[in-house]
Amino acid sequence: MTPTEMADPNPPSVSRSGSRHLRSAAWGAIWLLVAIAAGEFLSLAYQKYTHLDAGSYGMFWTRREWLWTHIGGGLLTIVLGALQFLPQIRCGYPRLHRWIGRSFLLGMLVACVGAVGLILTSPAPHAIRIAFGATALAWLVTAFMGYTAIRRGQVTLHRRWMIACYLATLAPITFRALIRIPGMMEIAPPMTMIPTLLWLSWAAPLLVYGVGCFMIRTRCAAAMRHERRSDTPTGVTPAPESA
Ligand code: HEM
Repeated sequence: MTPTEMADPNPPSVSRSGSRHLRSAAWGAIWLLVAIAAGEFLSLAYQKYTHLDAGSYGMFWTRREWLWTHIGGGLLTIVLGALQFLPQIRCGYPRLHRWIGRSFLLGMLVACVGAVGLILTSPAPHAIRIAFGATALAWLVTAFMGYTAIRRGQVTLHRRWMIACYLATLAPITFRALIRIPGMMEIAPPMTMIPTLLWLSWAAPLLVYGVGCFMIRTRCAAAMRHERRSDTPTGVTPAPESA
């Protein structure tokens, strides 16, 4: 044990493992909330659309084929996307991870075909249809970036884009959560709030995630600089990083 560890009642190894446990608990809680919200969203859709009648389908009755295509692909992406976060699959079964990834992309394309059909046949105002179109575009772009990153062997970049893609996948669930916030729908008329919340349902999580990644990267770079400086004996100029 080093003198610093002896003097410190919380040696780095202890506090590091403590913060690791705290992080795992926080992630566990977030995942549980996502799973509950996704489960509720899917079971509501299942209850509504298993009754094959005009009453249950409402405005989707005449375009139910588009809806089925959309929900079928969407269901696949929510379930398969969640599996990709399990380290047991990602690290233990890389081939399975690849096949789940391909099926996720296929599900996403099918859901997008359905979404385009729904948008083109929707009686909703332009602002709402444009907001849905932007969501679909964000979904496709994040998936494309994640896919091309892994084809180039850039694993970290792939992970970041695929997390962003899954956040976009969860947009309908985030939207439902946002409209349920007490007072939210009273801020402005529904025709303003609905498109605004549709945009926010993917843009806000992506922004929070992007800023979070940037902050972590900046902190790591600062910590590495600090470590390198404290490793360098006084009076010795560190060698340049790259020739
Ligand atoms: C992230 C990209 C997505 C886009 C752009 C999108 C787009 C759309 C559109 C345009 C509609 C029709 C809305 C209308 O005509 O008023 C719709 C409805 C629906 N979508 Fe999506 N969607 C997405 C993701 C998903 C996912 C992942 C699921 C999961 C299964 C899903 C499930 C549904 C359901 C169940 C409905 C019927 C709406 C209801 O019952 O309230 N969507 N979506």
